[in-house]
Order: sequence, then C-alpha cells, then structure tokens
Amino acid sequence: MAIRKIIRMGHPSLRIPGKNVANEFIGSDTMQQLLVDMTDTLRDYGGVGLAAPQIDEPLRMAIIEVPGGPSRYGEIEAIPLTVFFNPVIEILNPEVAGYWEGCLSVPGLRGFVERPQHVLVRYTNQQGDPAELELKGFLATVVQHEFDHLDGRLYIDHIKDTTKLVFEEEWLKFAPQ
Ligand code: NI
Repeated sequence: MAIRKIIRMGHPSLRIPGKNVANEFIGSDTMQQLLVDMTDTLRDYGGVGLAAPQIDEPLRMAIIEVPGGPSRYGEIEAIPLTVFFNPVIEILNPEVAGYWEGCLSVPGLRGFVERPQHVLVRYTNQQGDPAELELKGFLATVVQHEFDHLDGRLYIDHIKDTTKLVFEEEWLKFAPQ
C-alpha cells in the first residue's frame, strides 16, 4: 500500500492534459500498482474521485468511488470503485444544475459550479474493454469534475460568480442549507 501525495493548485502538472492510456498498459503490473496506489490515496484523503494527474501521473485515467446515501443534495446513488481509462463524455441533456464542488487538489475551498446533469461516459474499463455509463444529477457532476483533470482543468475554471468561491469552514457555517 502506498499513499501518494496529491499535488495542489499551482503545481504546473495539474494544467497539462493527460496522455491516452494504451490498451497494452492497462493489464500491466505497473498499472495494477498505480491503481492500488490511487485507491489507497483516494481513501486516505477521503474523496469521491481521483484523476491520475492529481498524483502527477500524466495519464487519461481516473477512479471514482461514491459511497451514496443521504446528503445535502438529497439521496445520492452509490458508484462502487470504478476505473475509467480514456473517458469521453457526451452530454445527453444540456440542462444544468449547480453543486458546491471541492477538490483534493484545491484543499479547504468550495465553489459553486453548474454543469449538465445527464451524461453518457464512454471509456475503457479495467479489463481493457469498451464500456459505457449513463449518469444523472450529482454523479454527472462528479464525472465531469474528475475528467476535467485529464484536460488540465479545475472546477474553479467554471465558477461564474466568484462570490461563490469560499473556504470550506465558512461554507459549513454560512452557505444556505
Ligand atoms: Ni478535483
């Protein structure tokens, strides 16, 4: 088990698009180790998703694990630990909704971001096979946030109203519930 350091906003690697992961690489020992490290790191830091560039690995891959259950946004559906290689998002409905997003690479802050709420993700799975996942609501936001990292983008790039970029402590105290 190896918990890797998550790089933070300001580190140039967060702004560089990742490279496609070759199919031959997916089943390799190096990849298996990287996935173990990413999973350990995500669980240690306590998040719902981690993209490879966040641990300074310039690859188009991310893991997502959403425990699900009740939240400030209502009941959230769970996503068991899932690995996405070379994901591409198709927006099925452009209608947006906003959430207060946080990011392990932008610790201590929250920002309100609006994104489309119905998407289809096409990706390569851990077996190296093509796969699809249709997601709505909060989970659609989660995948868009994670896959933005693969293009060198952060959630703060989407904030339209900078009065809605706040410290997490103050957010917990003052944000409308
Ligand atoms: Ni993030």
